[in-house]
Amino acid sequence: PGTYNAADMGYADYGGGPAGGHEHEHHQLSVTDLTGPKTGTPDVAVTLVARKEKKGLAGYTLNGTSPGPLIRAESGDLVQVTLVNESVPDGATLHWHGIDVPNAEDGVAGVTQDAVPIGGKHVYRFRAEDAGTYWYHSHQVSSDQVKGGLFGPIVIAPKTPGEVLATIHTYDGKRTINGETGSQHVELKAGTTARVRVRVINTDDAILRVGLTGTPYKVVAVDGREVNGPTPITKAYALAAGGRVDLEAVVPAAGMRFVAGTAALSLAIGPHDPPAVELPGETVDLLSYGTTKPLGFDPAKANRRFEYRIGRQIGFLDGVPGLWWTINGHKFPDVPMFMVAAGDVVRMTISNTSGQAHPMHLHGHHAVVLSRNGTASTGSPWWTDTVEVGNNETYEIAFVADNPGVWMDHCHNLPHASEGLMTHLMYA
Ligand code: C2O
Ligand code: CU
Repeated sequence: PGTYNAADMGYADYGGGPAGGHEHEHHQLSVTDLTGPKTGTPDVAVTLVARKEKKGLAGYTLNGTSPGPLIRAESGDLVQVTLVNESVPDGATLHWHGIDVPNAEDGVAGVTQDAVPIGGKHVYRFRAEDAGTYWYHSHQVSSDQVKGGLFGPIVIAPKTPGEVLATIHTYDGKRTINGETGSQHVELKAGTTARVRVRVINTDDAILRVGLTGTPYKVVAVDGREVNGPTPITKAYALAAGGRVDLEAVVPAAGMRFVAGTAALSLAIGPHDPPAVELPGETVDLLSYGTTKPLGFDPAKANRRFEYRIGRQIGFLDGVPGLWWTINGHKFPDVPMFMVAAGDVVRMTISNTSGQAHPMHLHGHHAVVLSRNGTASTGSPWWTDTVEVGNNETYEIAFVADNPGVWMDHCHNLPHASEGLMTHLMYA
């Protein structure tokens, strides 16, 4: 790993960080495990130029826009993205949120690379694998840069005629879909509306209720993983900060809309532009949605079990007094790290008594939700990279440690991360 970069998400006093100062070593890992393919002609090659903007809603852009351009790849493609920093003063990186890339490509300033300074560039190379909806964002001073606009969508899947992208972001107090406020119309041509898939990305700091109005719809994928046996619903979907959901429906004769929070922010999809209707009050519960299916590993045979207890206490961070988040009773920067070995089956119990909700994001892995507040999952395997843990809730998750490296595990309400709600998963 590179040296710790003081500016990143409050890393200033990280006690040396995982590269030193701890009892464990990670010399067992070979470098080839940790990097993307060094050779080979990319199937998808993109250059993204990061700039600080002086006008407009976005404080930062990529290739002149925010959200940045859609990157599209198909499973098996070698993806190469060159980040050029033209004018972002604090430096920038690109993190592939939800894509389980090799560790060196993960784009975390101070952990897997140094932030790219003005005038610098960095090349990311990875093999696209699991088809799904993802996003990329800077991981340097994230609470400022992501909020300011340094992010964009990335989809791993062939483009279909009935595909609609809805990237949700709040710029300076104004919530947008694909950078626009208010009601919009995506005029899919007749004949392409038989099966519409809306890929929704929540780039904000808080959970957001989304859904389709005018028709029942299915929740077909969550965080880049297909839901098994989805059934039609007429409820809303609660999309965690940082999370993604794919919604599918056939456009009815009278038309339909995708709604983000309130009907005032929505997309009419298809030939018609029906009146905006508020989302239903009820929210689908993924714990019992869809049908079960083997996980591919046995969580009952876990060989690592961790507790991740989120609390809050009074203290100082960088000399500033306040109420700071704690993990297992420890205040940043003395938070515990979670040590695993490659191949481990890991179970983690995440509980939260901090008084606020936290969308917990684990880099480099997808975990399956086993239970919430003691109620076991009875639906489709609920694979996630960003799980919203409400106040007084407990989630039990499990995953296979199959992607060696040093991985962040943090709250995706990004100001919370800079207030200390972050730690690492480390392979010994
Ligand atoms: Cu989307 Cu560590 O972040
Ligand atoms: Cu939080």
